[in-house]
Amino acid sequence: MKIIVTGAAGFVGYHVSKLLIKNNYTVIGIDNLNNYYDVKLKKNRIKDLKKYNKKFIFYKKDLSNYNDINKIFKKHKPKKIVHLAAQAGVRYSLINPKAYINANLLAFFNVIDLSKIYKLKNFVYASSSSIYGANTSLPFTEKKIADHPIQLYAATKRSNELIAHAYSAIHKLPTIGLRFFTAYGPWGRPDQALFLFTKNILENRPINLFNFGNHSRDFTYVDDISDAIFLCVKKIPKKDLIWNSNKPDPSSSKYPFKIYNIGGNKRINLKTYIKLIEKNLNKKAKIKLMPLQKGDVVHVSSSIVKIKKELGYNPKISVEKGIKKFIDWYKKYYKY
Ligand SMILES: NC(=O)c1ccc[n+]([C@@H]2O[C@H](COP(=O)([O-])OP(=O)(O)OC[C@H]3O[C@@H](n4cnc5c(N)ncnc54)[C@H](O)[C@@H]3O)[C@@H](O)[C@H]2O)c1
Repeated sequence: MKIIVTGAAGFVGYHVSKLLIKNNYTVIGIDNLNNYYDVKLKKNRIKDLKKYNKKFIFYKKDLSNYNDINKIFKKHKPKKIVHLAAQAGVRYSLINPKAYINANLLAFFNVIDLSKIYKLKNFVYASSSSIYGANTSLPFTEKKIADHPIQLYAATKRSNELIAHAYSAIHKLPTIGLRFFTAYGPWGRPDQALFLFTKNILENRPINLFNFGNHSRDFTYVDDISDAIFLCVKKIPKKDLIWNSNKPDPSSSKYPFKIYNIGGNKRINLKTYIKLIEKNLNKKAKIKLMPLQKGDVVHVSSSIVKIKKELGYNPKISVEKGIKKFIDWYKKYYKY
């Protein structure tokens, strides 16, 4: 079966494409290979996927160009899509807000609109745990209010969920939004904590610890995220027949619409996370304590009860194992 994966050169897109190919899908990857971070890393991910020959077809295209993307849909007639391309990163949204409007709103519209036109059976897309924003009631369940984003990134991701609901309602397009909780693992993103910390420690440079290290996160190993995405790809969402419009559950609907958290099921303090990195590198970090950064959510913890119950998701990789796997990859890739 043909499936489009947008953002295939990205961190999550690379891993999901690989999993789909191994499960006999033909992946049509689309990515504009933008220079938000090291383009060589993106190109190497694509190079690795191209090893699968005809099972992976790649287009270097910008999703904000409707006509270009229409041609790809027209040619391949995919049955499903995993839409992961986006301008990611919370902090960069304070520096370059327009990138978020182009990639997360305009491109999102193009992709969902074409999915409607070509009558795709399933539209699976990336949202983010950051949409919980100013909500501090932990753990975050999908039933909790997520209407107080504290930066533009979160606002665009929440908008995606609302647009998806409108398409599920008007056009009966089955949609599943996935709120990822900090993905990490091999081939990771250079702007994320694990990558930055590992790099700086190895290069004897200090690491910045914002909010004086009093952050906690629910880190999710990238293979667990890929497994969850795959479960969603296979299970086309249906109308929720017991959905109560007088007491509406925001993560479900009387239309074919679902929202799931995808977390690692364990909240870890950032200082503990750093200790694990140090242990694996066998080297102490030089820590620079910094105040809270604008736009940062302090504590994040997921409830994954819903996706466990409905789709059988079960994260397998502990943070201890996952950090080791990342560091082994990092040392091999960068020849340390
Ligand atoms: N990694 C995480 O911890 C995390 C957490 C929450 C949500 N997410 C979301 O998951 C998705 C994947 O994240 P990731 O970590 O793999 O990020 P990533 O930046 O590695 O991947 C995104 C890819 O999309 C591509 N892209 C961006 N704009 C595009 C456009 N207009 N046209 C074509 N391609 C475009 C980029 O070149 C990049 O390769 C994103 O939607 C992100 O917002 C990620």
